[in-house]
Amino acid sequence: MKALVTGGAGFIGCHLARHLADQDYDVTILDNFARAEEDEDFKKLVDRENVTFLKRDITLAESFTDLEGFDYVYHLAAINGTGNFYKIPDKVLKVGVLGTLNVLDWFVTQPKGKLLFTSSSETYAGALRLLGEKFPIPTPEEVPFAVDDPTNVRWSYGASKIIGEVAMHAYAKAHDMKNYVIIRYHNIYGPRMGFEHVIPQFIERVVKKENPFKIYGGQETRTFCYVDDGVRATQLVMESGTNGQTIHIGRSDDELKILDLAQKVFNVAGVSPEIDVQPAPEGSVMRRCPDIAKLEKLGFAPSTSLNEGIKQCYDWYEGKFT
Ligand SMILES: NC(=O)c1ccc[n+]([C@@H]2O[C@H](COP(=O)([O-])OP(=O)(O)OC[C@H]3O[C@@H](n4cnc5c(N)ncnc54)[C@H](O)[C@@H]3O)[C@@H](O)[C@H]2O)c1
Repeated sequence: MKALVTGGAGFIGCHLARHLADQDYDVTILDNFARAEEDEDFKKLVDRENVTFLKRDITLAESFTDLEGFDYVYHLAAINGTGNFYKIPDKVLKVGVLGTLNVLDWFVTQPKGKLLFTSSSETYAGALRLLGEKFPIPTPEEVPFAVDDPTNVRWSYGASKIIGEVAMHAYAKAHDMKNYVIIRYHNIYGPRMGFEHVIPQFIERVVKKENPFKIYGGQETRTFCYVDDGVRATQLVMESGTNGQTIHIGRSDDELKILDLAQKVFNVAGVSPEIDVQPAPEGSVMRRCPDIAKLEKLGFAPSTSLNEGIKQCYDWYEGKFT
């Protein structure tokens, strides 16, 4: 079986490509290192016989012209990372929109294969803010989207995911494309996830012995899904009868307060700093939790506990901060 992973040098893409390579898939990774690093983990992966790496840019249509024969196309390439949504919103949009349209223009010429597009909970973040308590949480797939403030360039990312989802259905209709599925990741975490996320940031501050330890808000609840579970879920969705569907990937069984997340990081590190609670960041929503009933119906059950996942992250990140 042949699989193409766009964005396969990034966080989830690299874990996914390794997971597929472990099962003897013939894996092609397409990435331009816009965000990813060519680190040891990645070099080890592309050294494998059944893994090919193509350093290419998805915003260029010619990046795809010589590609063919894939059974599965996982489209993960995007410019992620909240800082980028503000710093380079034009590039975020270009990669998210033009890149995805290039993938689609190429994919519809292929005689076989299934295409998976990775969307995000950011697609419905505006509707959540607008509808407040009327918005369902845990959140099922069939909620409306809304861009509540188009002047806020943070929307470069969420809007590109909204367009990506619309584009998948539009190409399906226009080109009779049947084999496709959309997933929306919810807070996937794990080693090699970068530094712009609450878990590596808490680890960094613990390693640097911050005391008192500042928590901004802390009463907000979130759910976290370990990357190995996220990757298994991604393959399961791809390889199940999910054509035309949208499926949430994440967890809904271990929602916790950010304050309790910090405590878990302290426990893993064996520290007990004083807590200094500061006002919550502006605009942060009190609750975010996906409804994953559709994913569970496919047979998914997570296997890495939050404690175990934090430990894996701590072991991987600790040395990076010392
Ligand atoms: N991590 C999460 O919890 C999460 C949540 C929601 C959605 N997603 C989506 O899942 C996908 C993977 O996320 P991630 O966390 O692994 O992000 P990541 O930033 O680690 O990986 C994205 C990869 O895309 C590559 N890329 C960017 N522009 C490119 C271009 N023009 N051509 C080729 N490659 C390019 C980057 O170099 C990077 O390796 C993304 O589409 C992201 O938006 C992730």
